[in-house]
Amino acid sequence: MSDARPAAVMILAAGAGTRMKSATPKVLHRIAGRSLVHHALAAAEALDPQRIVVVVRHEREQVAAHISEIAPHALLADQDDVPGTGRAVECGMSVLDATAIAARVAQGDVGDSDVLNAQIQGAVVVTSGDVPLVDGPLLQSLVQAHMSAQNAVTVLTAVVPDATGYGRIVRDQATGDVLAIVEHKDATDAQLEIREINAGIYVFDAAGLRSALAHVNRDNAQGEMYLTDVIEIARSEGGRVGALVAPDAASVEGVNDRVHLAQAGAAMNRAIVDNWMRDGVSVVDPATTWIDVDVQLAPDSTLLPGTHLHGDTSIAADAVVGPDTTLTNVVVGQGAHVTRTHANDAVIGAGANVGPFTYLRPGTTVGEDGKVGAFVETKNATLGKRTKVPHLSYVGDATVGDDTNIGAATIFVNYDGVNKTHTHVGSQVRIGSNTSLIAPLEVGDGAYTAAGAIIRRDVPAGALGINSVPQQNIEGWVERRRPGTASAEAAARALRAGAHSQGLSAGAHEERAAAATDEGEQ
Ligand code: UD1
Ligand code: CA
Repeated sequence: MSDARPAAVMILAAGAGTRMKSATPKVLHRIAGRSLVHHALAAAEALDPQRIVVVVRHEREQVAAHISEIAPHALLADQDDVPGTGRAVECGMSVLDATAIAARVAQGDVGDSDVLNAQIQGAVVVTSGDVPLVDGPLLQSLVQAHMSAQNAVTVLTAVVPDATGYGRIVRDQATGDVLAIVEHKDATDAQLEIREINAGIYVFDAAGLRSALAHVNRDNAQGEMYLTDVIEIARSEGGRVGALVAPDAASVEGVNDRVHLAQAGAAMNRAIVDNWMRDGVSVVDPATTWIDVDVQLAPDSTLLPGTHLHGDTSIAADAVVGPDTTLTNVVVGQGAHVTRTHANDAVIGAGANVGPFTYLRPGTTVGEDGKVGAFVETKNATLGKRTKVPHLSYVGDATVGDDTNIGAATIFVNYDGVNKTHTHVGSQVRIGSNTSLIAPLEVGDGAYTAAGAIIRRDVPAGALGINSVPQQNIEGWVERRRPGTASAEAAARALRAGAHSQGLSAGAHEERAAAATDEGEQ
């Protein structure tokens, strides 16, 4: 591929994107976890060009900030107030040339007199920030076609059922040569019948492009400098014009409004899902499974319907995720099960069980073979191996050792209204149901807490933490204070049938409370 390495790739991203009707610039709208311009940059990188330049103007600061974040090596070119794709390319070329000249001057191998020889030479690929489905391999075949035919211009085209809005490819009837590109608004009735369209992606010979651009005017229906005029001009200057017809017309579709955005998103997602299935991932329902480009999946992982995987999520072999689960930047270990769960920035250990109806917030680690069950929320919490939080709990700002059980409805009380503080619970601990653990707190290894306890002071290893008030039963209270109610009648029936009262002596209470700690699944 090295002989096919282009001198530069230019990405046009200066347009207003009016039809998106959005405060966000069009090229910053996202599909499959990346902005549209990020997809264009990724395709450009696949060509390994010497330089990449992005032409900006509309919402310049937002777009520039985004590009310097995702592609710090890319150059930025500012388009001036002359409108049109032709002007955009002119502005891009002047930045490419200035950069190339500056590099040569810095090396000391060019004098002031021959700076023009230091301008960009060779193949310049021009693509758009709004055609996200065009990938590296398609650009590569365009560059190959361009170089092997030694063209002045090679344009990517597609034959589409509805060509409305696109530039039409006008070919010589006899030879099939590309003669010109005519914009929809400038086309004759006969030209409007043409279904071969300009994808807006080209490879140019730099010198031919420079000289042709000098002849482009604004004499057209939109009063813009059309890049497409370069085709006819290059031909008249004796250059060879070639075209590559995209094998899949859908892949060159541009995003102009939010309907296109959703269509492009669905098409890209389908391609991602299909690739993972070919790599050995089971996907039960591709239509409701959404996978961002950077997600990693191991063979023999399974995704159930309604699974959304975002960011840097990775899923190991034999794990089962879904149904109805959204994971963002989550690592799922081998053989783990994650059911009806919403999780961000979390690690789920091998063999662990999470869900259903579970919310793992940033900083959560679920230990190997551990469990975080129904209606549990966690945040900044590290749980050890085989440790379980089976039901109805909040675990925030905590570390918990191995083999510990956190009883149903336990709350890690981490917030005093001003500060958040940490709780450490050791290994082999049994936290009783409905315990409040008031941070900052330490519970030692092998300790217990009584059901319903409010634990404010550290519990040493092996101790029982308990602070409940002894229970009193006031016999006959319902009959006296709620006479005639259904409860009073039920009580009377029970007493008549000789049932025993439920009363326990105060002395039996402590043992009863300790025994009521949650020993696992309830
Ligand atoms: C353009 C082509 C058309 C082609 C279509 C494919 C021209 C004149 N027309 O039309 O033949 O079928 O793409 O999608 O080139 N841009 C700038 N500066 C500008 C104007 C546009 O950078 O002054 C950028 C836009 O941000 C966008 C790209 O160029 O990324 C294409 O611009 P757009 O206005 O969408 O062109 P189309 O009308 O779609
Ligand atoms: Ca467009």
